[in-house]
Amino acid sequence: MHIMESRRDVRGNHFSDQPVNDEIILELLSAAMTAPSVGLSEPWEFIIVRDLETRKKIVQNFKQANQCATEEFEGDKKNHYKQLKLEGILESAFNLAVFYNPPQEAVLGQNSMEEVGRYSVVCAIQNLWLMARAYNIGLGWVSILDPQDVKKVLQVPDDHELIGYLCLGYVNDFLDKPELEILDWKKRRRKSSAVHFEQYSSSRTNRQQNKSCG
Ligand SMILES: Cc1cc2nc3c(=O)[nH]c(=O)nc-3n(C[C@H](O)[C@H](O)[C@H](O)COP(=O)(O)O)c2cc1C
Repeated sequence: MHIMESRRDVRGNHFSDQPVNDEIILELLSAAMTAPSVGLSEPWEFIIVRDLETRKKIVQNFKQANQCATEEFEGDKKNHYKQLKLEGILESAFNLAVFYNPPQEAVLGQNSMEEVGRYSVVCAIQNLWLMARAYNIGLGWVSILDPQDVKKVLQVPDDHELIGYLCLGYVNDFLDKPELEILDWKKRRRKSSAVHFEQYSSSRTNRQQNKSCG
């Protein structure tokens, strides 16, 4: 539980300069690939990105996407948004682009819910995120990107889908709470509010029954 509670999304303002050696990167990837996957399809592909020129192209992509994202907010919230650091593409030791490689044949369990293939890739990312934390390596997930442009830069086949663009590197200290909470962007949801008994209910009575959940 400690590893899960102390995992953080790490952005560019927290990475140290220490390089991550290949052996550790392979360990992280191995942790990712022990994840469950629908029908044992293992539909993941990973691209390790170290090259600075490539990363600069991804930063440009981020800047454009972030410009649009800024427009989602208004007034004080918009000003607050503009001050947030939301990626660590250049500051991290390396980037990892993770793709969904759709199946070429029928997959057990992937019929009525086609999206479960993508969920399998997310399971792999979560494994990697936790393993990284065990090595004191931080990971920041960047989703403010045009995925088609990322695919173009990394020469990824058309049918593959970007699931996560990750920035990884050693950090000196992990924050003890989500950074967005510390910066008053958002408060954590009470765990009990997400748990329902027998049927979905938005009533307080139902939620209050589960006091032990936090
Ligand atoms: C699918 C996904 C996409 C995310 N995209 C971004 C992002 O683009 N930029 C960012 O700063 N954080 C991103 N995050 C990190 C979340 O903001 C972070 O997980 C959340 O605030 C909770 O903080 P914690 O991970 O430190 O506990 C993303 C997280 C997930 C799971």
